[in-house]
Amino acid sequence: MNGDGGSGTAKTESEAGRKGKVFLVGAGPGDPGLLTLRAAEILKGAEVVVYDRLVNASILGMVPEGAEMLYVGKMPRRHEVPQEEITKLLIEKAREGKVVVRLKGGDPFLFGRGGEEAEALVSEGIDFEVVPGVTSAIAVPAYAGIPLTHRDYSSSVTIVTGHRAGDGTRSVDWGKIARSADTIVVLMGVESLDAIARGLIDGGLSPETPAAVIEKGTTEDQKVVVGTVGTIVQRAREGGVEPPAVIVVGGVAALGGKLSWFKVPRR
Ligand SMILES: C[S@@+](CC[C@H](N)C(=O)[O-])C[C@H]1O[C@@H](n2cnc3c(N)ncnc32)[C@H](O)[C@@H]1O
Repeated sequence: MNGDGGSGTAKTESEAGRKGKVFLVGAGPGDPGLLTLRAAEILKGAEVVVYDRLVNASILGMVPEGAEMLYVGKMPRRHEVPQEEITKLLIEKAREGKVVVRLKGGDPFLFGRGGEEAEALVSEGIDFEVVPGVTSAIAVPAYAGIPLTHRDYSSSVTIVTGHRAGDGTRSVDWGKIARSADTIVVLMGVESLDAIARGLIDGGLSPETPAAVIEKGTTEDQKVVVGTVGTIVQRAREGGVEPPAVIVVGGVAALGGKLSWFKVPRR
């Protein structure tokens, strides 16, 4: 990682004023209170912000007036700005000597294409820093009262993409996933929930295994649907669940009801 050696001091403006620098910043899963102190500090010094769809508006409000705001949000099945163009934009703005913040939902290195952007910056010799974010994979279940590990139910977790699980273009081996961990967390899986549940059952997982789907977790619109792998498709349909949502499969998913704590408005 390039940067200030993790000192946490706000050298960003002066550093980047000379050379230009890109910050790959995680904005967290939705609740603005989950933004890290480092991310807030970087945002306050931003000159250009290249941001995604799942970034909360109040986090965008922390950016100084006059900063250039570039929306490159991606909708499910519709990439509004191709990834190559986003990467080109980061390089171009950094070459102008700007403090560039690439702001992403959750964590930039977990299904955020932050790795590809970092690779491009390295090959162009551009300074960059990674600011990890609170990932939806962990925080969204937590806001639904679901701990991913628990001494009685789970000592391992697999995080997997469900993106296009149903159309055969990306081959996730659901049988292998079913055997790989006690808790399975699926991102980008709502539209393929049926194929995912079938894949897990065909792969050997009991249809009685608890499952939960959490839509817009950590926000005031959070919706939680619980069931089993055998019933979750029907439950999600009845509940009108839409993306973005996190799917949790495994014994811990049954704890959601008992440990439910998140209420809106918060006190
Ligand atoms: C492209 S991935 C990005 C993940 C992100 N980098 C992270 O660490 O959370 C987008 C997926 O994250 C999940 N997600 C992000 N924010 C969410 C939220 N507030 N509630 C439920 N799921 C969310 C959904 O599965 C969504 O389809």
